[in-house]
Amino acid sequence: MPQPIMKDDFPVSNVRHFLEPGPIVLVSSQWRQQTNIMTMGWHTVMAFSPSLIGCVIAAGNHSHELVRNSGECVINIPAASLVDRVVSIGNCSGSEVDKFKAFDLTPGKASKVGAPLIEECYASFECRLYDDAMIEPYNLFIFEVVKAHAAPSADNEESLHYRGMGEFLLSGNTIDRTALFKPSMLV
Ligand SMILES: Cc1cc2nc3c(=O)[nH]c(=O)nc-3n(C[C@H](O)[C@H](O)[C@H](O)COP(=O)(O)O)c2cc1C
Repeated sequence: MPQPIMKDDFPVSNVRHFLEPGPIVLVSSQWRQQTNIMTMGWHTVMAFSPSLIGCVIAAGNHSHELVRNSGECVINIPAASLVDRVVSIGNCSGSEVDKFKAFDLTPGKASKVGAPLIEECYASFECRLYDDAMIEPYNLFIFEVVKAHAAPSADNEESLHYRGMGEFLLSGNTIDRTALFKPSMLV
C-alpha cells in the first residue's frame, strides 16, 4: 500500500520544478522575410477538437513579435539528442542571430502556415492563432493546430522535460492502464 510521505516547506515560486509538463519544444516563426526559433516549456493542451494549445511566449522574446504579427507558428518537438542546441536557442535572441543558420537546422516548408518546420525534429505542428484575449494580460497565445506531422518513430523518441535551474528530465518507460479507464475517457 502507498504510505503517507513526509514533506517540508517548499518555495511557491519553485513549484515549476515538479509541475512543468514538457516536452520542451522549439517554436519556429516567420514574419515578412525573417524566420526565428525559440525554446519553450510552458505549453498546455486545452482542447481536442478544435485542437487547441496554450503557449506562454514572453513579451521580451523576439518570437513574441513575429508570432503576434503573423498569427502563426510551428511547434516542433526535438529529441533529447538535440539538448545542447535546445538550450543555446533558448539563450540568444533572433534579433541578433539567424538561428536556423547558427544552429545548423533545416527549415522545411509547412503546408498551411508561413512559418517553417524544423526538419531535425521528430514532430511538427502547424499552428494558427485562435484566440488573442490572453496575450496582453499573460503572454498566453492560444493556437489551433491546423496540420500535424509526426515521424513513424515518434513514440520511441526520448523527449526533454525542463525542471528549471538548467536541469532536464528525459522521458522514460511507457506503462499501459487501458483496462482502468472508462471507454469514454480513452481519447
Ligand atoms: C529550457 C528552456 C525553456 C524555455 N521556456 C520558455 C517558455 O515557455 N516561454 C518563454 O517565453 N520563454 C522560454 N524560454 C526562453 C526563450 O527560449 C528565450 O528567451 C529565447 O532566447 C527567446 O528567443 P527569441 O528572442 O529569439 O524569441 C525557455 C528557455 C529554455 C532554455
